[in-house]
Amino acid sequence: MEAIFKRRSVREYLDKEISDEQINEILHAGMSAPSAGNEQPWHFLVIKDKQKLAELTQLSPYSKMLNTASAAILVCGDLDRQKHEGYWMIDCAAATENMLIEITHLQLGAVWLGVYPRTERMKFLKDYFHLPQNVEAFALLSIGYPTESYNPINRFASERIHFEKW
Ligand SMILES: Cc1cc2nc3c(=O)[nH]c(=O)nc-3n(C[C@H](O)[C@H](O)[C@H](O)COP(=O)(O)O)c2cc1C
Repeated sequence: MEAIFKRRSVREYLDKEISDEQINEILHAGMSAPSAGNEQPWHFLVIKDKQKLAELTQLSPYSKMLNTASAAILVCGDLDRQKHEGYWMIDCAAATENMLIEITHLQLGAVWLGVYPRTERMKFLKDYFHLPQNVEAFALLSIGYPTESYNPINRFASERIHFEKW
């Protein structure tokens, strides 16, 4: 719960490497997500190479922080693994959020860079990584050690809650 409430988007990072153990923990959290019919349609592409991280800033005008990231994880959906058509991106979103929470728990920081449903971003990543025809890019996580501590935010809004009737 602490990590859920503490999680914020982190876009500035220290020049410090993230270990393979940390990456594994993050991926383990991602793969623990629920999915429609337990289809688990995800694949994860781990990027640590600095040149690739710099090139990936071309994804969108809102991905410049990849220049200083220690790692990135591309969450992909394998459409052939769908048992229930149309759910792959929802499953991938659940996996992505699980990873953000684990990243916070590890005292790292990350930001979710939107890919799906922007077709030009999906195509950029599909071409860049030569993804198989049945695999689509869903989201890119930019990860690193935060440069400073950040404050949790309370977004609890009682007016958004409806009991028994609207
Ligand atoms: C689907 C999605 C796409 C996002 N895309 C970007 C992005 O391209 N660049 C970015 O800096 N932040 C991106 N964000 C992060 C949001 O801006 C951020 O979550 C929001 O402002 C709330 O702030 P918080 O994460 O610190 O609570 C994205 C978040 C989501 C869920």
